[in-house]
Amino acid sequence: MERINIVPMPDKIEYLGGKFTVEACPLQTNIDPTLAKEEYILTADSNGISITGGSDQAVFYGKQTLRQMKGECPCVKISDKPAFEYRGFMLDCVRHIFSVDEIKKIVDAAASLKMNSFHWHLTDDQGFRAYSDRRPSATIDGSVRNRSEFGSLKENGAYGGYYTAKQMRDIVEYCAERYITVIPEFDVPGHCSALLHAYPSIGCTGMPVEIKTHQGIFEDILCAGKDETFEIVFDILEDLLEIFPSEYIHIGGDEAPKTRWKNCPDCQRRISQAGLANEEELQGWFTNEIVAFLKSKGRKAIVWNESLKSGLIGNDTVAQMWMDPKNHSVKFANNGGRIIVSDFFHYYCDYPYAMTPLNKTYKYKAVVRGIKNPCSVYGVEVPIWTEFINNFNRLCYMFFPRFAAVAETGWTKEENKNAADFCERFRCYSSILSQMGITAAPPHDWNPSPVARATGTVGFMNSNVRKKPKTK
Ligand code: ACM
Ligand code: ZN
Repeated sequence: MERINIVPMPDKIEYLGGKFTVEACPLQTNIDPTLAKEEYILTADSNGISITGGSDQAVFYGKQTLRQMKGECPCVKISDKPAFEYRGFMLDCVRHIFSVDEIKKIVDAAASLKMNSFHWHLTDDQGFRAYSDRRPSATIDGSVRNRSEFGSLKENGAYGGYYTAKQMRDIVEYCAERYITVIPEFDVPGHCSALLHAYPSIGCTGMPVEIKTHQGIFEDILCAGKDETFEIVFDILEDLLEIFPSEYIHIGGDEAPKTRWKNCPDCQRRISQAGLANEEELQGWFTNEIVAFLKSKGRKAIVWNESLKSGLIGNDTVAQMWMDPKNHSVKFANNGGRIIVSDFFHYYCDYPYAMTPLNKTYKYKAVVRGIKNPCSVYGVEVPIWTEFINNFNRLCYMFFPRFAAVAETGWTKEENKNAADFCERFRCYSSILSQMGITAAPPHDWNPSPVARATGTVGFMNSNVRKKPKTK
């Protein structure tokens, strides 16, 4: 029997018998408050098409489903709702910058896949890309690096740029029209070389810090002992809060080495004055200062899983699990917290298909091992870091179809998922991506053979991963 191909797979499709022509049928939409906020029912036959949703957002999702139905289609009733509340993607606009128009294309794709969150990574060691009105130096001095040396991707000459408040507002508005919340990330206390370049006084040593030109984990992080650090961080956050109305703000917290804090009299004084046991607890304390600031403004924080090592993070904060060998995220979730799942080995789209084939991404279960209550999984997010991605075509190649696989995990119940079927449906969906100006990786690249996986992985490692990471 002929079927319709929808990505992400709806909860329930009933074939009613007979056919209708989509373009020839009028569309009627209704709101039914008895349905959940993101739930919709679409019925379509030769008498017409109707979408009833629990909200305007749900009706919008019904329209995204309809958009994937073309020409002569079987008559259907689709009853649909998401598996997870949070369905997001992350774009690193620090290592390489993407234009507002390019970002909007990715947002278009996310909306058509019924995602609802855009995590925008705006600050890091290699640049500070959000304009701050209160602290313009952060952006003016922190946004241009001297050159780029990301593994085999080397670009001579200064590389810089940032998003103005107007551009960021434009993105926020564009996303809101598509029911996508933009969550800006201001990554602290680590990954702050660009900010420290502008304000060396808020590092532990006070010495000049270069904006980094290569990837790595760097020892200069924000000093947790100086009050000035918080004055600057809160000023920048105030600016972000004026632009981004999201309930959550991402404050990073990943990969913050404690070398400087161990040797800093200010940090050590803070540890003893706050009655903390060690530098790990100092990171928990640092995070909670920002959480309290955000709370005073009616907002909450998302943090990368390393922040949980302190054991001091409260359940109001959401933890994003990316690499967590000690399972802090699972323990946090089982103690009443909520997590966003973005496992590095399965979801990071900056790694080649040889390392992370589509099937590996698709089959990863969002309710990760050890989770007692599935409701503690707030949702899933597909990240892309852009050290090795310096143009939009490459971004699209690396993101799609893995992006859609994670969108399907976020939307579709686990028992309704099927990897081979997803591949079939994605081939149809690619035509919609093409209309948006997005070209996905071709099907023969999605799931390389074992030999191609081995050679591709070795090739990527040799050309892009430093043998001995530099720390300075
Ligand atoms: C991360 O990949 N450092 C969150
Ligand atoms: Zn310090």
